[in-house]
Amino acid sequence: MGSSVTQHALLLLQCMLVLRPGGVASRRGPVLLPESPCHKTEHPLIPHSAMEPWIFRFKAEGTVDYSQLTFDPGQNELIVGARNHLFRLNLEDLTLIQEAEWHCDEFTKGACFSRGKSEITALLFAGVFPQEECQNYIRVLLVNGNRLFTCGTNAFTPICTNRTLTNLTEIHDQISGMARCPYNPLHNSTALITSSGELYAATAMDFSGRDPAIYRSLGGLPPLRTAQYNSKWLNEPNFVSSYDIGNFTYFFFRENAVEHDCGRTVFSRAGRVCKNDIGGRFLLEDTWTTFMKARLNCSRPGEIPFNYNELQGTNSIAASAVCAFNLSAISQVFNGPFKYQENSRSAWLPYPNPNPDFQCGTIDSGSYVNLTERNLQDAQKFLLMHEVVQPVVPVPYFMEDNVRFTHVAVDVVQGKDMLFHIILWYYQESAFPSQSVHGELPIGGD
Ligand SMILES: *[C@@H]1O[C@H](CO)[C@@H](O)[C@H](O)[C@H]1NC(C)=O
Ligand SMILES: *[C@@H]1O[C@H](CO)[C@@H](O)[C@H](O)[C@H]1NC(C)=O
Ligand SMILES: *[C@@H]1O[C@H](CO)[C@@H](O)[C@H](O)[C@H]1NC(C)=O
Ligand SMILES: *[C@@H]1O[C@H](CO)[C@@H](O)[C@H](O)[C@H]1NC(C)=O
Ligand SMILES: *[C@@H]1O[C@H](CO)[C@@H](O)[C@H](O)[C@H]1NC(C)=O
Ligand SMILES: *[C@@H]1O[C@H](CO)[C@@H](O)[C@H](O)[C@H]1NC(C)=O
Ligand SMILES: *[C@@H]1O[C@H](CO)[C@@H](O)[C@H](O)[C@H]1NC(C)=O
Repeated sequence: MGSSVTQHALLLLQCMLVLRPGGVASRRGPVLLPESPCHKTEHPLIPHSAMEPWIFRFKAEGTVDYSQLTFDPGQNELIVGARNHLFRLNLEDLTLIQEAEWHCDEFTKGACFSRGKSEITALLFAGVFPQEECQNYIRVLLVNGNRLFTCGTNAFTPICTNRTLTNLTEIHDQISGMARCPYNPLHNSTALITSSGELYAATAMDFSGRDPAIYRSLGGLPPLRTAQYNSKWLNEPNFVSSYDIGNFTYFFFRENAVEHDCGRTVFSRAGRVCKNDIGGRFLLEDTWTTFMKARLNCSRPGEIPFNYNELQGTNSIAASAVCAFNLSAISQVFNGPFKYQENSRSAWLPYPNPNPDFQCGTIDSGSYVNLTERNLQDAQKFLLMHEVVQPVVPVPYFMEDNVRFTHVAVDVVQGKDMLFHIILWYYQESAFPSQSVHGELPIGGD
């Protein structure tokens, strides 16, 4: 990953900081200065250079791929995962507090080199230089109480460590990163840890990336995954983000649309599982019995609706948009009918949800430890929701042609009228550095 990745990461660091001195987003509620450019409902476009006075930079000599960021709110620190390095930075001015090196050991590196450079190179796309492959790219960085749980690709042999949050060189535990972290630094993944200690990871499970899964491990509940090599569950997904909300964990991703018959089309999805799922018996053993997914609609209205998610797959036009979805709209779709295909030659048809008010445990008014055979058959059959989740407003909040938004930072401010502050970073390959857009969106309700 070359210098553009480094610059990217710096931009992301900068954007975090720009939010703070702005003073607009207070945790206590919105304090909006009438003359503030942020007060406008249209979206001011601020060139990078105009923000220069508020920008702090951190860069460690020879370190690249500053791709993972998390906060230690207790210490007011920013934790950064870069290639072969972890950093603790002061959140106010990005000064270095601690650096922890995390290289692959010589044996692992040697095995990676000898595994056949060609084999690895064939898997990688342009962008990673051949000599850069056998390194430790940090891909999971999660604060878990007073511990930092972090995983790296470790030269295609992923590993995870458990460290003291306030002393990153102090390692308590080292475990396999398989099914928790991708092997290939270019594979997109996401992970979260719940308060009860379960790790939910959505990642490629293997070296080639052909076995993607949403996988639960650690903690006190049995490990579970999405069904293996079954395109109705996940079809060449690119995982984006994950959230722990109420009885569920939610995953946002894009994938090839199984329900779309003509040609390859990529849809954006929200997926979810129940946190108290313990898998099936005989049927769906070690597999989620509560996995569901729905399509998200983010499109430009017009004579011929223009779907941004489809374009992501074909890469033919660079155009970007930001759509906002509320959780109630997502829940509503998950409570509605499924989309079901009897066999590969039949049409996809709506099928009533056999358990419309399912809240993770209401089946037969008991714990669903006692899922019936019928329940398990249904769980295996019905994965995709029929309805499409519509955005909060039909027109995307931001649309730009000929650019690709690469990072979106959303600052949610609690108040009577909830506001989102959205900062977008994008760049055009030809015209780096970037522009940024700063907008404010009034959102009602939840
Ligand atoms: C992390 O360390 C704590 C003890 O310090 C231990 O109880 C816990 O199981 C470890 N977690 C993982 C995921 O290794
Ligand atoms: C951090 O942990 C390392 C390894 O356990 C130890 O050598 C070092 O003294 C610790 N540093 C501090 C400041 O506690
Ligand atoms: C991961 O996501 C990025 C950004 O969306 C994309 O450019 C890249 O191709 C994805 N990686 C893979 C292996 O699909
Ligand atoms: C979680 O599930 C329980 C049933 O197990 C249900 O009573 C409760 O309302 C659900 N909570 C939420 C926030 O949906
Ligand atoms: C499940 O069913 C068995 C017998 O069918 C019963 O003994 C057990 O108590 C049930 N478990 C729960 C959690 O309902
Ligand atoms: C959530 O979005 C839907 C549209 O998808 C809209 O009908 C509904 O009013 C929104 N709810 C809230 C609370 O904003
Ligand atoms: C997506 O939203 C657009 C704009 O509101 C609408 O025209 C289109 O029908 C929607 N598509 C789906 C599949 O819901």
